[in-house]
Amino acid sequence: MKSMPIRLRLTLWNCFIFGTIIAVIISVVYLKHKQSHYREIDRMLLNISAHVHEEINQQLSEGTPFKEVQVSIDELSISEIAIMVKSKTGALIEANSHPFFKDRRIMNENQVIDPVNFKTITDSDGVRIRVHTASVHQKGEVVGYIEMLYSLRTLDNSLLRFKWIVIGFTGVGIFLAAIAGWFLAKKTLSRVDLIGRTAKAIASSQDFQQRVLHVGPADELGKLTETFNQMLDSLEKAYTNQKRFLSDASHELRAPLTSIRGNLDILHKIKNIPEAEKEEMLNDIRSESIRMSKLVSDLLSLARAEAGQLFNMETINLSSLITVVIEEMETWKKAVNVEASIEDDLYIWGSSDAIKQLLIILLDNAIKYTHPGGSVFVSLETANDQATIKIKDTGIGIEKEELPFIFERFYRTPSARKHTPDGTGLGLAIAKWIVDEHNGSLVLTSQSGEGSEFIVCFSVIK
Ligand SMILES: Nc1ncnc2c1ncn2[C@@H]1O[C@H](COP(=O)(O)OP(=O)(O)OP(=O)(O)O)[C@@H](O)[C@H]1O
Ligand SMILES: [Mg+2]
Repeated sequence: MKSMPIRLRLTLWNCFIFGTIIAVIISVVYLKHKQSHYREIDRMLLNISAHVHEEINQQLSEGTPFKEVQVSIDELSISEIAIMVKSKTGALIEANSHPFFKDRRIMNENQVIDPVNFKTITDSDGVRIRVHTASVHQKGEVVGYIEMLYSLRTLDNSLLRFKWIVIGFTGVGIFLAAIAGWFLAKKTLSRVDLIGRTAKAIASSQDFQQRVLHVGPADELGKLTETFNQMLDSLEKAYTNQKRFLSDASHELRAPLTSIRGNLDILHKIKNIPEAEKEEMLNDIRSESIRMSKLVSDLLSLARAEAGQLFNMETINLSSLITVVIEEMETWKKAVNVEASIEDDLYIWGSSDAIKQLLIILLDNAIKYTHPGGSVFVSLETANDQATIKIKDTGIGIEKEELPFIFERFYRTPSARKHTPDGTGLGLAIAKWIVDEHNGSLVLTSQSGEGSEFIVCFSVIK
């Protein structure tokens, strides 16, 4: 089933709530109004009855027999009221009534309607009549009744009119609320609609530079727009990064491939190349292949990072892992002096392959970017339940302005390019990912020309 549009739903809810509130208020007001009118009539009937009673009692005390008593009341000309004095058996003794009651059946009934105080009856033609009956006593005995009738015709008609007026106004009110709700919903939803349209336009054009223009107040929708724009910022950044990564990666792969292909072409075409030159070309091909396979394996690591691949975590002895890596690196190092101070038996929760890769990246950099004769200091110690690895060198260092970009993929400082032309600029991006996956921290301090220090912290397992 096709769902109802939000705009219509909001409008209907608006009408429903408004209508219910108005209906409840109006009903209460109407009922109170009606009750107060009826109460007023009863009070009036009681007053007149008391007056008639007094008049009859006066006549009785003057010796007039009950059968001959008379009633004179002025109100009869203005209100549709009737006063009857009846005997104990209900025989009419005296009747005094407004013309409305003339010839009505109720006036000719020779009986007491009911000797109860108040009741409402309906006449043969549908007119409601309020009846009040009071007994008349003489010498402690009931001698007859005073029966008062009051036609509710005028009041009922006016209440009915009032009811219709109220219903009419409520209807108009709900109609106006519906129109107001419809336009209000349109105004509110137009901002949501704008977000939706922008999202659609971005999806079809892949133009992540678009933003939703926000001019309204900083309410929930304002916040939604802001969040949506922030999401677009991140998407744009990710998209640009992705594009740059792809072009950097192809560029980095093309250089060694071109060199390998060039050398192979020469070897293939020229048959009598001197042995020494041939050897040099083959060495070139070998080193370019090594460079390329390192690049491919780094790219693979980053692709795994992008795919959110999880490591095989276990308890690892960080102390012995660092010692092993340093020993392996010894064979790689040039004329650089490597010193180590490793605290024994520090355990962390992690992947030994990944931590080894991290250590190789940092040590390789420290050795690579240090001039012959320089030093590299490696230390491992615990402080506040943190295993802290410090890798410090006296190498070329990094300019202050370049520090923010160091962990970006493919980023290499000009001095590093000059010092070591080989290198892809992927090592630290991988290192950062490994540290993040281990919930650790990686901090770099460096001064150009003086050296750098990388500090990595992991939680220790006790
Ligand atoms: N110890 C260091 N001393 C000075 N500069 C450094 C050091 N470590 C990293 N850098 C700078 O950070 C850049 C990025 O390092 P990263 O390890 O990511 O790449 P790389 O060493 O250039 O290449 P590779 O991916 O082959 O390791 C380096 O090019 C260099 O400019
Ligand atoms: Mg490196």
